[in-house]
Amino acid sequence: MAVLVTGAAGFIGMHVAAALLRRGEAVIGVDNLNPYYSVALKEARLATLTGQPGFAFHRIDLAEREGLIGLLAKHPEIDRVIHLAAQPGVRYSLEHPRDYVAANLIAFLEVLEACRHAKTLKHFVYASSSSVYGGNTKLPFAIEDPVDAPQSLYAATKKADELMAYAYAHLYGIPTTGLRFFTVYGPWGRPDMAPWLFTEAIIGDKPIRLFNHGKMQRDFTYIDDIVAGVIACLDKPPASDMTPPCRLYNIGNNRCEELERFVAVLEHAIGKTATKELAPMQAGDVVATYADITATTRDFGFQPQTTIEEGLSRFVAWYRDYHKV
Ligand SMILES: NC(=O)c1ccc[n+]([C@@H]2O[C@H](COP(=O)([O-])OP(=O)(O)OC[C@H]3O[C@@H](n4cnc5c(N)ncnc54)[C@H](O)[C@@H]3O)[C@@H](O)[C@H]2O)c1
Repeated sequence: MAVLVTGAAGFIGMHVAAALLRRGEAVIGVDNLNPYYSVALKEARLATLTGQPGFAFHRIDLAEREGLIGLLAKHPEIDRVIHLAAQPGVRYSLEHPRDYVAANLIAFLEVLEACRHAKTLKHFVYASSSSVYGGNTKLPFAIEDPVDAPQSLYAATKKADELMAYAYAHLYGIPTTGLRFFTVYGPWGRPDMAPWLFTEAIIGDKPIRLFNHGKMQRDFTYIDDIVAGVIACLDKPPASDMTPPCRLYNIGNNRCEELERFVAVLEHAIGKTATKELAPMQAGDVVATYADITATTRDFGFQPQTTIEEGLSRFVAWYRDYHKV
């Protein structure tokens, strides 16, 4: 039996695939290695997986009609799918809205169609995002809170994914779990996110920009905790009598950190003080994110372990090693 991991050259996908391989699973990775950020970084992530026993990779654009259906037909051993491929990023969605429709709507539909036709599928797990909570002011964000006011097209596509997944679970009985991730960081992270951007700037003696004049809070979640949560969910599909067999969970650290404290911890990990530029709120962004993980802990024993002190120091060590700085 095997797990299909989409977005396997991406940040979270690489770590999920690596953890599955470590426990002896066969993993089939898919990615289109698009140039949203450094393709060399995506290739370097893939290189950590390639050659490991049980790993196979296919470069496929999931938005292409029936690309994945063909792959699943060739690999009847795939019995679980973890769909992480997507077009992330809030600011980029203001300038490249069509990329979000292609990756987060069309490709998502193609993945659902492939799951619908896969006779042996036991569980479909996919990534949603804390951004679906939009500008909600009730903290922490709970799954049952209304999520009808997305602040960006990215958030709107993630909410649409949740609705499409629900409809397919209802129509075709696909056992489905959606995971709303909260600001994931760690080694091999994304170059468009704050930990990377700030580390790059501080090491290079450039100013860092703090939006909303630094008055932001984020539930920063370390990659190993995310991976543990994804795999715990994967191992426990919805009960067979659940109608439709479709669930949603938050996966966050359950701590609302002030951006200013996050920067102070990062400065300490790097050993240098940042030059800070205060900037207004960015269009599409939200002031705070904070995950209520009561249900995730109850159903999967999910308990994040990593403080931002530990997590950022591991990220900075990796960043220095990767860039030789
Ligand atoms: N990193 C976070 O903080 C965070 C927070 C919330 C939600 N998420 C979600 O988690 C998932 C993984 O995020 P990530 O941070 O690893 O992002 P990432 O950009 O590093 O990984 C996504 C991967 O998907 C691939 N991809 C995109 N479109 C594709 C397509 N049409 N066909 C095949 N491959 C395609 C990309 O090449 C990339 O390697 C995404 O769904 C993202 O929206 C991430």
